[in-house]
Amino acid sequence: MQLDPDDDRILAGEEGETRQKMLELLVALGKVFGAERLVPIRSAQVSGASYKTIGEYGLQWLNTLDAKAVVPAVLNPIGMDRGRWEEMGVDKDFAEKQEAVVAAYGRLGIGLECTCTPYYLRETSYGDHLAWSESSAVSYANSVIGARTNREGGPGALAAALIGKTPCYGFHLGKNRTPQVRVDVQIATRDWTAADYGALGYHAGKLVGNRIPFFTGIRPDRDQLKALGAAMAATGAVALYHVAEITPEAQKNPYAVAGLEKIAVERMDIAAIFKETLVEAVALGCPHCSPEELKAVGRLLAGKKVKKPLYIFASRGVIDASPDVVTAIEQSGARVYADTCMVVSPVMERYASIMVNSGKALAYVPDMCGAVARIGTTEECVKVATE
Ligand code: F3S
Repeated sequence: MQLDPDDDRILAGEEGETRQKMLELLVALGKVFGAERLVPIRSAQVSGASYKTIGEYGLQWLNTLDAKAVVPAVLNPIGMDRGRWEEMGVDKDFAEKQEAVVAAYGRLGIGLECTCTPYYLRETSYGDHLAWSESSAVSYANSVIGARTNREGGPGALAAALIGKTPCYGFHLGKNRTPQVRVDVQIATRDWTAADYGALGYHAGKLVGNRIPFFTGIRPDRDQLKALGAAMAATGAVALYHVAEITPEAQKNPYAVAGLEKIAVERMDIAAIFKETLVEAVALGCPHCSPEELKAVGRLLAGKKVKKPLYIFASRGVIDASPDVVTAIEQSGARVYADTCMVVSPVMERYASIMVNSGKALAYVPDMCGAVARIGTTEECVKVATE
């Protein structure tokens, strides 16, 4: 692999043991995946932030590191809202360990936002190279923004944050970003909501697997693209997709898709996913809500009181930027939590059935929360929680 003189100095240990080890890790990853060089990154998003995931050994390892991030970096959602863990039912011992993990990342210069939607916090642009970890964030960056990132493991993303580079292979290379399968949606989608796109992603991900799909017949907005990509990354392993005339690379490149395998999606495929069942609680914000989604929930809850627990998850940055909306939502009895999410937080584990507006949550809630999951639109979710 080609390395520059700065890299050689780091590898020689002239900038400390942590940077040396981190660059060794990136070089080893690059060799495994056939990278010819490292590429500078604009930002990193680091998974392995929940104490539940990394445990005592992970925490001890983080505390051995001594370096500072050289690019903006954030964490993936952790197991609790850092300011409201007690009301979430998180025990004190876990909360202290979780705080210790966050503090360890803080010492390394990683921003203490814990979110799967870093793109709401910091501008990410077309063509930017990134080292992001969380699958929905990776999908959004690659597909909706046209940035370039592989789905990094936690140590790889952390190493990239500390070095400012990542191995240049996979989705960093234009030649690996062309469509591999065509998905023709043969349904009138003009009135579709994000939940419908989540259901489409839930269905399509199972058929597409880890290939790059090219969608026709849909015109999703950005929140709907977020829902589509998150669900496909959950039921499949889709890290990049294109939508004819909508996503940036489909707009810029005259992709030849006529000869690709075709998957047709029909009305019944999607309708079958919207099965009604009684639920004990409702959860919104998978991926974390955008400012517009938070406002929409506020409008739907105006003048109402929740009769079933309703939880909404968003990044702290989005929550802090919308204090009036959050106050109005919480006046209904609903709760808006930062730093964590419906899947990694223990708050949802106390319910046997949960309604969501997300195809990704529909896929994850049964295994991760041990609950039956039902999908509906945001409007239906609020109705179920308040009537
Ligand atoms: Fe984000 Fe958690 Fe969903 S990380 S995409 S809210 S499962």
